[in-house]
Amino acid sequence: MCGIIGYAGPREAQEVLLDGLRRLEYRGYDSAGVAIVGSDLKVFKDKGEISKLSTDMPRLAGHLGVGHTRWATCGRPSQQNAHPFLDCTGQMAVVHNGIIENHLALREKLIGEGHVFTSETDTEVLVHLMEKHYKGDLHAALKETLKDIKGTYAMVVVRADCDELVAARKENPLVVGLGVGENIVASDVTAMLNYTNKALYIMDGETVVLRPDKVTIYDHDGVPVQRDPVVVTWTVDDAKRGGFEHYMLKEIFEQPTAIHNSLLGSLDELEAGSLMIDHEPASVKLVACGTSYHASMVGKYIIEALAKIPTTVELASEYRYMPNTEESPLTVLLTQSGETADTLAAAREARRRGCPTLAVTNVVGSTIAREVDRVFYTKAGPEIGVAATKTYTTQLMAMYLLGIRLGQLCHTMGRDEVRELTSELRAMPRYIGKVLDRGPEVEAATEMLVSARDAFYLGRNINYPTMLEGALKLKEISYIHAEGYAAGELKHGPLALLDASTPVVAACIKDHTYAKMLANISEVAARDSPILAIGIEGDSDLAAVADTTVSVPAVNPILSPVPLTVMVQLISYYTARKRGCPIDKPRNLAKSVTVD
Ligand code: AGP
Repeated sequence: MCGIIGYAGPREAQEVLLDGLRRLEYRGYDSAGVAIVGSDLKVFKDKGEISKLSTDMPRLAGHLGVGHTRWATCGRPSQQNAHPFLDCTGQMAVVHNGIIENHLALREKLIGEGHVFTSETDTEVLVHLMEKHYKGDLHAALKETLKDIKGTYAMVVVRADCDELVAARKENPLVVGLGVGENIVASDVTAMLNYTNKALYIMDGETVVLRPDKVTIYDHDGVPVQRDPVVVTWTVDDAKRGGFEHYMLKEIFEQPTAIHNSLLGSLDELEAGSLMIDHEPASVKLVACGTSYHASMVGKYIIEALAKIPTTVELASEYRYMPNTEESPLTVLLTQSGETADTLAAAREARRRGCPTLAVTNVVGSTIAREVDRVFYTKAGPEIGVAATKTYTTQLMAMYLLGIRLGQLCHTMGRDEVRELTSELRAMPRYIGKVLDRGPEVEAATEMLVSARDAFYLGRNINYPTMLEGALKLKEISYIHAEGYAAGELKHGPLALLDASTPVVAACIKDHTYAKMLANISEVAARDSPILAIGIEGDSDLAAVADTTVSVPAVNPILSPVPLTVMVQLISYYTARKRGCPIDKPRNLAKSVTVD
């Protein structure tokens, strides 16, 4: 995915575009660029991050322009492949997020017509098509261009002799920020919070004409659309680093608040019997990618334990290949961004199959929110670090709430049981605070991981997915190869890989899996692997078998994934920090993956 932005107004466009691109950088950061209309149209773009672009770029005066930060999908990261792209006349520039599927055929045709291409990207066909169709009306040229292309896009076009930007959207996010005498269009609201909190979400198939004093949205047939702006509650400060060395650390520390906010109101709805769903489903299917998939796996344990409803979990990228074997399961799609292409495709397929759909997302106005029957919003606030942290633990909250709601509907939970569990949920921010207080201890414990090439993460039952998540976190930010394993599976193969150079992180809390976990840890110790065990405060038996232990507070075992997750987040953070890794922007990754 990429981040795009366009500005029209009285300010220097360069400042607004760079400021917005910095906030969109989580969407991609291998190259970036801007195009600004001053006395003529000027483009500056390069390989590398926005900070480099800002330092290297000369002052480009002008009040109208577009910008882009890239996560390469078609063509390697390079100056040539960076956006914006210019047409052959140098009059028009385009920025794009998405994939033009028929770009090869279009490129060949356009070259035959005399257009000269300068990059390897699919996007470049857009600017040449715009050039071909431009007859004095930028919006009309855009409409013609859209007829020629197959694929997905959020795109913005600027032209040297026009005082407007035109934009279009299909399956990639696009939002307009309405200011006073100025307007912004961007991939997400964080890019505009410095200037306005009034947002107009653009829908699939719509196009936009944006001037400093006016924004017009057109539907697919070219008919103007009336839409009221949404007031965004996220603030600029929410999206700032606020004194923390990395966004990831800030976001880990924001979890008590994020969880509190995500429960607030929802617990009242739960009490009133109006949360998330109205009917008891025969079965539940949870569908997601990456970290959200791990939250879904935890969700399966929760739903089956609390509501006794058969629950399956699917990777969103695999869902489309699975035969439809259940009678319309309640299909729950977890995606913090609400924009993950595989999860969106799964949502569409679920609807096609006639399944009731519920999305759990953190982004109001995101694509998924508009495509499903019901939405539950986690209230984690903006998450900038590529590694999901607070959006994960708030997804866990959504799973607990869903489990309890289903338990109410299926009469598998009595009032007292509901009351007891919800009061423990309310106490969760306090428990997380206790884990966060252990920062220095955790930092010291990560010493055994810092120079490892491989590591294993072991857990059982509801904390098997917790350790999958721990391994994923370590992989993505520290570049250490880490495998999450169900501890009982170790002896069925991976034990062959253990030796003194392969550390093992194991979750061993005092639930029904405790004795088995202790036995598994002893098996690991017998192979000389260094062991970092996460246990309950004061567990001397665990301390006796592990090399190092860090502890989490004792909670109801069904809630244990929450403090344990915060612990594995801290472990990966401190390990990556000691290794000097670019924690918020790991190589090759982007915050949400809008290609499938
Ligand atoms: C999380 O740390 C990862 N960056 C990634 O696995 C992510 O969870 C996945 O791409 C799904 O994203 P979503 O929740 O926005 O759909």
